[in-house]
Amino acid sequence: MEFIKVNKQYDKYVALIELNRPKELNALNLQLMGELRDALKDLDNDDDVRAIILSGNEKAFAAGADIKQMADKSAIDMLKIDQFSTWDQIRKTKKPLIAAVSGFALGGGCELAMTCDMIIASETAKFGQPEIKIGVMPGAGGTQRLTKAIGKAKAMELVLTGRFISGEEAVSYGLVNKVVPVEMYMYEALSLAKEIAQMSPIAAQLAKEAVNRSFETHLDEGLTFERKNFYLAFATEDQKEGMAAFVEKRKPEYKGK
Ligand code: CAA
Repeated sequence: MEFIKVNKQYDKYVALIELNRPKELNALNLQLMGELRDALKDLDNDDDVRAIILSGNEKAFAAGADIKQMADKSAIDMLKIDQFSTWDQIRKTKKPLIAAVSGFALGGGCELAMTCDMIIASETAKFGQPEIKIGVMPGAGGTQRLTKAIGKAKAMELVLTGRFISGEEAVSYGLVNKVVPVEMYMYEALSLAKEIAQMSPIAAQLAKEAVNRSFETHLDEGLTFERKNFYLAFATEDQKEGMAAFVEKRKPEYKGK
């Protein structure tokens, strides 16, 4: 891996992926996105991983898709390369995915953070969809996920002006879970990941799928999907263990079975 660093054992059951193109502010070129897709697939298949943190560095989570790589492409080139199809695979990650964001999360960087399930931000974080300033528009979910996260009026403002918002503002709009001082954001992301990693990993996967379904379908279908996943959880040993532990007033030990 050239442009990402993967630590499968960042903590017990918690893996960390760091975007690693610091000179280019982690601009998301095709190779980086391919590496990220492959790493997430690998971690998804690893029973020793129950939650994944995705981070950049203090200065940049990611400053967007690689403008230099795209600048001279034609529409046909873009169609053939279809670079955002990689993002669809990232979206299909089954395990809980936490973005730990410091510095710039712009364009594709903001879209990548929104593709994750939760976002922890540092006080220096800057979120935005500045594509309009370079003559294009968001292409990796920005118009859809941002609108669903913060509502039409604010999303329209950010997409049409390209203005950046701070971590504080992002929390107040419901885009981000929590904002903390810069020296704390990785710790905070890890605390959240560790808490989630204590749960049954199968229950977490079923729950994640059901929450995501609420963005993709209408209420009736979503409720049916949720109910089926709830019933499916009763096929696991973890369900027996979780409920037995409650009755016996002890801590559950989940095995992911
Ligand atoms: N693509 C390619 N290179 C980038 C980049 C990007 N998105 N963002 C930054 N870089 C490069 C710069 O070109 C520069 O490289 P050189 O030293 O070789 O010139 C290096 O990273 C450092 O950047 P700056 O000197 O510009 O740093 P700064 O602190 O002055 O400014 C910034 C930081 C405000 C983030 C500025 O770099 C910037 O505006 N970047 C572009 C942001 C953007 O428009 N993102 C959207 C991209 S399109 C997209 O993402 C489409 C989509 O929907 C997926």
